[in-house]
Amino acid sequence: MKNSSSAVIIRAELKSDFDAIRKLNKKAFKGKNESKLIDAVRESSCFIPALSMVAVKDGVVVGHILFTPVRIKSPQTAVPALALAPMSVLPELQNRGIGTALVKKGLEESVKSGHKIVVVVGHPEYYPRFGFVAAGGKGLKLPFEAPEEVFMVLELARNALKDVSGEIEYPKAFHDIN
Ligand SMILES: CC(C)(COP(=O)(O)OP(=O)(O)OC[C@H]1O[C@@H](n2cnc3c(N)ncnc32)[C@H](O)[C@@H]1OP(=O)(O)O)[C@@H](O)C(=O)NCCC(=O)NCCS
Repeated sequence: MKNSSSAVIIRAELKSDFDAIRKLNKKAFKGKNESKLIDAVRESSCFIPALSMVAVKDGVVVGHILFTPVRIKSPQTAVPALALAPMSVLPELQNRGIGTALVKKGLEESVKSGHKIVVVVGHPEYYPRFGFVAAGGKGLKLPFEAPEEVFMVLELARNALKDVSGEIEYPKAFHDIN
């Protein structure tokens, strides 16, 4: 019997997805920076394969999300966290819940792998639905200029941000892109 299901599956990326992820990001962002960033992170020692996830529909990669380890640095401490960046859905399939499925599954995997804090620099209308709140109000800073409302944070564990403050230290791969 022909399988007509068009359910979207979210899973960790495979090597065979790399090219599709590049093309997807170029389309969604209308440029190459994000696909270059993903490639650079993938080649770096900080890369967590389980946290580079794809959305697959009818065998085609239609969405992607990446979480990369960062540190929240203060003069006294360096607290581990994840940065959600980038994420993308094929333009023709946006607004159908694929991005939501990617974020939710990605956050579940982040919890499973023991992470407690996720930061994002992104659309302030989008991420609060997953529980992200303004990061500036929590004592966090970015190492670059950005409008206050685009910098958000999510606690994956209760009180994960208690006594935590400082500047986000991104891995080198993030500095090399622009
Ligand atoms: C942002 C993105 C990943 C969302 O994926 P998606 O599958 O379209 O998202 P969902 O279907 O789960 O959610 C749709 C919601 O996201 C909102 N949304 C989509 N793109 C948005 C944007 N650029 N800014 C703000 N909100 C956006 C929609 O308005 C919709 O809101 P509603 O549920 O209140 O109607 C996708 O639009 C995309 O790839 N955009 C281009 C790349 C990008 O901007 N990536 C994010 C960088 S922070």
